Amino acid sequence: MIASTKGGEGKTTTAVHLSKVSAMLGYKTLFIDLDPSMDGTKWFNLEPADDDFFIGDILSADGTADKNPDRNPVGWAMQMALQSDWDENLFVIPSHESLGTLELNTDPAMELRLKKSLIGADYDVVIIDCPNRSGGPLLRSALLVADTIIYSATGDEGGYEGVNGARKALQIFQEEQELRGYPAKIEEAGTVFCGYQEVATPRMTSKIVDDLRELGVLLTPLVPARTCVRESRTARRWVGEWGKKSEPVINAYMELGKKIIK
Ligand SMILES: Nc1ncnc2c1ncn2[C@@H]1O[C@H](COP(=O)(O)OP(=O)(O)OP(=O)(O)O)[C@@H](O)[C@H]1O
Ligand SMILES: [Mg+2]
Repeated sequence: MIASTKGGEGKTTTAVHLSKVSAMLGYKTLFIDLDPSMDGTKWFNLEPADDDFFIGDILSADGTADKNPDRNPVGWAMQMALQSDWDENLFVIPSHESLGTLELNTDPAMELRLKKSLIGADYDVVIIDCPNRSGGPLLRSALLVADTIIYSATGDEGGYEGVNGARKALQIFQEEQELRGYPAKIEEAGTVFCGYQEVATPRMTSKIVDDLRELGVLLTPLVPARTCVRESRTARRWVGEWGKKSEPVINAYMELGKKIIK
């Protein structure tokens, strides 16, 4: 899972790039969009129509009766994922704006539904793009299935704070699970730094990079800033289509992917 409790810190960019890189490395990969803002879903150009399946159908026991009367989500992550046209190894479970209403759902059984949906799934890698929250059922659903947490940060004010917030959320979750008698084993892979300006590096960027390094959670290489990343998002395409311009970004994510994906 990719997390930061601040907005605009590179979670979606990292989740989308790592998913494609993972697929390129030959892993059967599932991207799960857990963010009601649907940024990852839109990037893959897989926005569901109103009656199409989306992650909310897995998470919610209500409102799915017409799609699956027994409402038990076991195996749905295999059955319902969409094939991405970016790569034959890449599958996507899209999000929808209505997912936001589930943040108000306090039924603890809901939080296990994502885990249930993955029972029997034969993906090699599952990557979850999380919303920028410090708690709530969506984040807890992800924490219940994750074996690795990846933070992301850009050079803006919230970079360091967002990583610390996500670490705190992880710590609280782990303490709660310990008390329940089911200790969580979630490994912190570290922080992907997104959009590093190599030339005329802003002082704030250098400070955040130094602070993350000091905290022992900085992953290298840093991902360089390139306008093609934004362009590819607007075009809803894989950045590789931008040719040579995209190589520094893809190479960085490829190296990071090889470090993180086991
Ligand atoms: N390598 C890069 N080069 C240029 N811009 C980048 C790069 N990586 C990320 N960005 C930009 O940083 C901004 C934030 O990225 P992103 O949307 O992935 O963050 P997020 O944490 O998912 O945000 P949210 O909390 O809203 O979900 C975007 O405008 C994105 O284009
Ligand atoms: Mg996002």
